Amino acid sequence: MDSPRLHERPTAFDRMLTPVHRWIWRDTDRRVQKLLRFSETETDGGRDILRAAEVTSDPLLRRLYLEHAIDEFRHGVLFRHRAAELLKVSASRSSQGFHGDWLAPGGHGLDDLQVDGESDRNMLAFLHLSEKAAASRFTVYRDVMQHDPPTRAVFEEILHDETFHMNYTLMQLARVEPKRHRRHLWWARLSRLWKAYLRLATGLAGILGSMLLTIQYFVLLPPFAWLAKRAAHRERSGWTMVSPGHSDSLDRQY
Ligand SMILES: [Fe+2]
Ligand SMILES: [Fe+2]
Repeated sequence: MDSPRLHERPTAFDRMLTPVHRWIWRDTDRRVQKLLRFSETETDGGRDILRAAEVTSDPLLRRLYLEHAIDEFRHGVLFRHRAAELLKVSASRSSQGFHGDWLAPGGHGLDDLQVDGESDRNMLAFLHLSEKAAASRFTVYRDVMQHDPPTRAVFEEILHDETFHMNYTLMQLARVEPKRHRRHLWWARLSRLWKAYLRLATGLAGILGSMLLTIQYFVLLPPFAWLAKRAAHRERSGWTMVSPGHSDSLDRQY
C-alpha cells in the first residue's frame, strides 16, 4: 500500500523546470494573469467535486468531498484576491504576451474530471493523482516566489490544503478498495498519461497544420498567381465580338 505522506516533494520534472518557473513568475503582469487563471481552475475543480459529493452513495466520502469543494472554492478566492492586489500596484494591465501556461499549469488538471458515471474508486484515484500534481507544482511555485512574500504565503496556505487532499484521497481509496487500490492508481496514471499525450498531440497537430498552410501559401500559391496574371494579360479588355455561329443556342450561356 502507498503510505500516506504528510508532505509531498516536487517531482524531478517540476524541480528541473525551477529556473523556467522562476522566470515565468518574475514578471508582475504575467503573475496576475496566471493567478487569475489558477483562480478559475480551482473554482471549476470545486464545482466538479461538489457534484461528486452529490452523486456518491458513501456518507463519509460525501462529507469529505464537501469539505474538499469548499477548500477549492476558497483557493479560487485567495488567488483572485492576490491577483487583484497585484493589479492595483501594477502600472500595465496588458494581458498580451507569453504566459507559459503549458510550462507552469494550474495545479490540478481537474479539467479532465468526468464526475457523472464514475465510481468512487476511480474518482478517488483520479483526485489523488491530481492533488499530488498540484502539491508538487505549488511547492515549486512557492519556492520561486521569494521576491513576492504575499503571493508566496498564498501558495503556502493552499499547498497545506492540497497536501491534505492528496492524503485523504489515498486513504479513502485504500478504504473503499483495500486490495486493488494500487491497480486503480496505475489505471488512473495511464489515463492521465494518455490525456496528456492527446493534449500534446493536439497542440503539435495545430503547430504542424499552421506550418504546412504557411508553406503552401508561400510555395504553391505564387505559381498559380503568376499563371492567373499571365492569363489576365492575354485577355483583351472591353467588349469582345462573338462569332455568329457561337450564339445560336438559347440552351446555354455561350
Ligand atoms: Fe486547490
Ligand atoms: Fe486540492
